[in-house]
Amino acid sequence: MHPDIQQVVLSEESLQRRIGEMAAEISQAYGQEEVVAVCVMKGAIFFMTDLVRRLSSPVVLDFITVSSYGASTVSSGHVQLVKDVDTDLKGKHVLLVEDILDSGRTLSYLVKHISAMQPASVKVATLLDKPERREYEVAVDYAGFVIPDVFVVGYGLDYDQRYRELPFIGELKPEVYTKAPSEQALVS
Ligand code: IMP
Ligand code: MG
Repeated sequence: MHPDIQQVVLSEESLQRRIGEMAAEISQAYGQEEVVAVCVMKGAIFFMTDLVRRLSSPVVLDFITVSSYGASTVSSGHVQLVKDVDTDLKGKHVLLVEDILDSGRTLSYLVKHISAMQPASVKVATLLDKPERREYEVAVDYAGFVIPDVFVVGYGLDYDQRYRELPFIGELKPEVYTKAPSEQALVS
């Protein structure tokens, strides 16, 4: 365990088991059609690598970077494209791979952005889904776990760029993100 973690929400074992099931379902759906898996950086990186290694369909990897959060647990409300994909997606089967679907702002932006490239299809795989917080409707094709409205970190998910390396997903202690900036400066 980590001193800033309140409790483990999803253990390493349960993450791996569920990702195996998702990979089987996704492989079944695409068969021998090539799929371009587009990882939404940086949060989805661990999910992406664990998922694609278990796919039996032919797969091409790409990465897209958007930013909306900053050092906060609440989205800033804007999605900014920082780095686009570099594959020509026209006529391709695209699978967007995301860490968590929260308000839906990021994925609704990304589905529109990718669809404009005229792919053969666009599907969404998200490891976590927080339906209570939805503001934008997003059609999710594959969801790993539905979780309650708690701020979680680990397995790629961050708070202010920290905790991504934890092998499990845990609830961050509220005092970590409610500390006054001066106090934060003292601990860091
Ligand atoms: P949305 O645009 O509000 O759906 O937010 C999606 C993005 O917010 C995700 O890609 C995450 O980077 C971030 N996010 C949302 N909830 C959490 C959380 O509980 N922990 C860490 N990041 C989160
Ligand atoms: Mg993300």
